[in-house]
Amino acid sequence: MTGDKTLSWAFTESYIPEPEGPARARVLAEEFGVSPVTIGVGATLRALAAATAAHSVAEIGTGTGTSAAWLLSGMDADGVLTSIDVEPEYQAAAREVLTAMKVKPAQARLIGGRALDVLPRLAGGAYDLVFVDGDPEETPEYVTHAIRMLRPGGILIVANALWHDLVPEPARRDEDTVRMRELVRSVRNDDRLTPVLLGAGDGLLVAINRPPTR
Ligand SMILES: C[S@@+](CC[C@H](N)C(=O)[O-])C[C@H]1O[C@@H](n2cnc3c(N)ncnc32)[C@H](O)[C@@H]1O
Repeated sequence: MTGDKTLSWAFTESYIPEPEGPARARVLAEEFGVSPVTIGVGATLRALAAATAAHSVAEIGTGTGTSAAWLLSGMDADGVLTSIDVEPEYQAAAREVLTAMKVKPAQARLIGGRALDVLPRLAGGAYDLVFVDGDPEETPEYVTHAIRMLRPGGILIVANALWHDLVPEPARRDEDTVRMRELVRSVRNDDRLTPVLLGAGDGLLVAINRPPTR
């Protein structure tokens, strides 16, 4: 006897009640027309940040702060999140959310600008975790920067890795799907990384910046 996989996915997505901070950011996302991470993705971000006691985290795609709020709630209490977005009004909304969560300004370094202009300025080998959720067209380049930025053992996380559930369907050949399918494959084949593809949200590609030991 087996149950319904879709129901199981929905159950995992609502397993954790969303805390006040990310819930507030989600309301603002709706107002601004931003796509925030799902609760399942947010809870995964928080758990991975907590598992590594992450102190230094970078995010591409602040939006109104949903993923930032989840990440900060798993990071070390004195950790610093660096988050990049090209839209100043989204970041202003995210700042409000984080301030209400009592996150000090120095602990959330919100950088306005195009990610590909900002990323080369961020230190190499310095980050415990890098979360990629920006412009889908630029995601492969973000990943190249992220791998450079991660410390050994640091975690790369890429949102929308199943791209609307089209990545698993080889017949779907549109540009966005093919780009994500190739990225998922190249991360799997990268011998510097220990990868796993999770089903949270629209798919979450997670890769540890360390090869498997055997
Ligand atoms: C999917 S949303 C991020 C959602 C956010 N992570 C959350 O959970 O609320 C993508 C974000 O990437 C930003 N973005 C798009 N192109 C960008 C670029 N070239 N550089 C930096 N940010 C960009 C958008 O303004 C948008 O806020």
